[in-house]
Amino acid sequence: MINLRFNAKDDGVAESITALTLQIDSFVVSLMPDMNIRCEQPSDYSAIAQVNIQAFQQENEARLIDKIRNSERYIPELSLVAEVDEVVVGYILFSYIDLVGNQHFQVLGLAPLAVLPKFQRQGIGSALVEAGLAKAEEMGCAIAIVLGYPEFYGRFGFEPSIHYGIESPFPVPKNAFMVKPLKDYHRKYRGKVVYPLAFRGV
Ligand SMILES: CC(C)(COP(=O)(O)OP(=O)(O)OC[C@H]1O[C@@H](n2cnc3c(N)ncnc32)[C@H](O)[C@@H]1OP(=O)(O)O)[C@@H](O)C(=O)NCCC(=O)NCCS
Repeated sequence: MINLRFNAKDDGVAESITALTLQIDSFVVSLMPDMNIRCEQPSDYSAIAQVNIQAFQQENEARLIDKIRNSERYIPELSLVAEVDEVVVGYILFSYIDLVGNQHFQVLGLAPLAVLPKFQRQGIGSALVEAGLAKAEEMGCAIAIVLGYPEFYGRFGFEPSIHYGIESPFPVPKNAFMVKPLKDYHRKYRGKVVYPLAFRGV
């Protein structure tokens, strides 16, 4: 979104700037594709694999998705596609991972998130994260964990996991391993994350 700041002493200038702002707003809106987010269906599997292969330029994430789908960690309600003109252009998956401390919990791991290169930087990735978090809240999940770009995930309230006493299982830049506490979060959710076998090799 483009923000204009100015000091206008003259109402005429203020009106033209307002008109320009409205024009810019409608231009930005017209760049946003007409997009729909829904749960994945078996008929989407190959399109989802293609979205991930093209976004990541490798097949590891597509394989990870298959392995998770075939495991008890899969959550159908949190496997979401974004479609434009009924074509799948984006995908997000949250699945159960372990948090092991004084107690053992299953929490949400966000991975992968992918948008076809041609459709990136149009708000689709953000819309998928928001839709997933909203569904996770609705399902009463306590916390979501992600390894990713801090400047991107920070927008949705993800914070470095160390703020919450949650440790990554492998060495990563501290800011890149993040958690988003949801409304059912409680301080008891502390410890070290353990990823299921499906994540090996990703
Ligand atoms: C990351 C990704 C899912 C974002 O989807 P998107 O639809 O482009 O995201 P949005 O349009 O909602 O938001 C764009 C923001 O994503 C972030 N972003 C995208 N690509 C990025 C990159 N390579 N490095 C850092 N941040 C990036 C930026 O914060 C960007 O904001 P900006 O345009 O103001 O700079 C998409 O770029 C993608 O599929 N990338 C390849 C796969 C990948 O790296 N996924 C892992 C994410 S942890």
